[in-house]
Amino acid sequence: MTRAQRKQDHIKHALSTGQLRKTGFDEVAFVHQSLPNIALEDIDLHTKIGGLEWSSPIFINAMTGGGGEQTSKINEDLSVLARETGMAIAVGSQMSALKDTSERSTYEIVRKYNPEGIVLGNLGSEATVQQAQDAVEMIRADALQIHLNVIQELTMPEGDRDFKGALERIGLIAEGLSVPVIVKETGFGISREAAQALSRTKIAGIDIGGFGGTNFSRIENQRRERMLHFFDDWGIPTAISIAEAHQATDLPIISSGGIMNSLDIVKSISLGASAAGMAGVLLGKLLGDGLQATIKEVNEIHTDIRYLMSALGCETLEDLHQTPLILTGHVYHWLMVRGLE
Ligand code: FNR
Repeated sequence: MTRAQRKQDHIKHALSTGQLRKTGFDEVAFVHQSLPNIALEDIDLHTKIGGLEWSSPIFINAMTGGGGEQTSKINEDLSVLARETGMAIAVGSQMSALKDTSERSTYEIVRKYNPEGIVLGNLGSEATVQQAQDAVEMIRADALQIHLNVIQELTMPEGDRDFKGALERIGLIAEGLSVPVIVKETGFGISREAAQALSRTKIAGIDIGGFGGTNFSRIENQRRERMLHFFDDWGIPTAISIAEAHQATDLPIISSGGIMNSLDIVKSISLGASAAGMAGVLLGKLLGDGLQATIKEVNEIHTDIRYLMSALGCETLEDLHQTPLILTGHVYHWLMVRGLE
């Protein structure tokens, strides 16, 4: 199987498996405030992470690149979506373009259609400092995501089997790059222990990429004969992982994994995240309903975030960090057991 075919398979299976909806956000509730003393027009959705600042608390998380014309068109549309709505955007893993320069244009197109926006590069933790520098240069990236995807590799028949040295390489990349480095999970969540280890490096933030949305165990299991079903329900739900990571480190925390709507985003920020990434949902909307409908949907999410912040009396994302929350069920139990409630 070629790399291009694999990427097309991922898109197909990501759309067919969809969102698991097991993020834990249903077990996080707000306390209504009847005297919010706030005007909708004063609400400020600006986000700051590692010296980067953009006008939306949302970004498009890493998905495509390489893989020919289909991914090129998707990247063009995602880039326009980011530009028109003020979201930041991350490209998919650039390793294929570092190995085969004919694939570069499918990534460069993101910068071409969004010359002024915040664009994040993406590589796996196997990358060297030189590869990280080349990836940043390729798209004039404002930051670089380094993804962690142990479960995906294990479930992928042709995947990696050696995960040694990742933290050390991440440390070297964070020291060697001139742009901020963000470490991200890909749908299995970051634990307190992982967040503590990462906070000893010079990275600028952690995207917890939690369990409960797009699920790469289920995606890869569809591509193999002997399925590893024990990984299908493996991982730290997104709501829990935000709390785990947030209490383990002072680094900015980014929420992703199963973010579907404004309520998930506002809950994420209230749990301690500084921004929220959306991947599968935006891809599904784009391929199902087209670019204009997706731009409209993101604009509506921005409007709804403002409504929710008004109801909570929060003018800024920092105010949201202070809003009281009630945790129930599995989320409450998990955080109690971990001494994090
Ligand atoms: C991804 N994701 C991903 N992540 C990454 O760091 N590098 C990559 O190349 C890719 N590729 C990719 C392709 C496709 C088709 C999808 C749907 C996803 C993972 C993505 O960034 C995110 O972490 C997960 O999809 C979980 O978020 P959602 O989809 O539940 O919002």
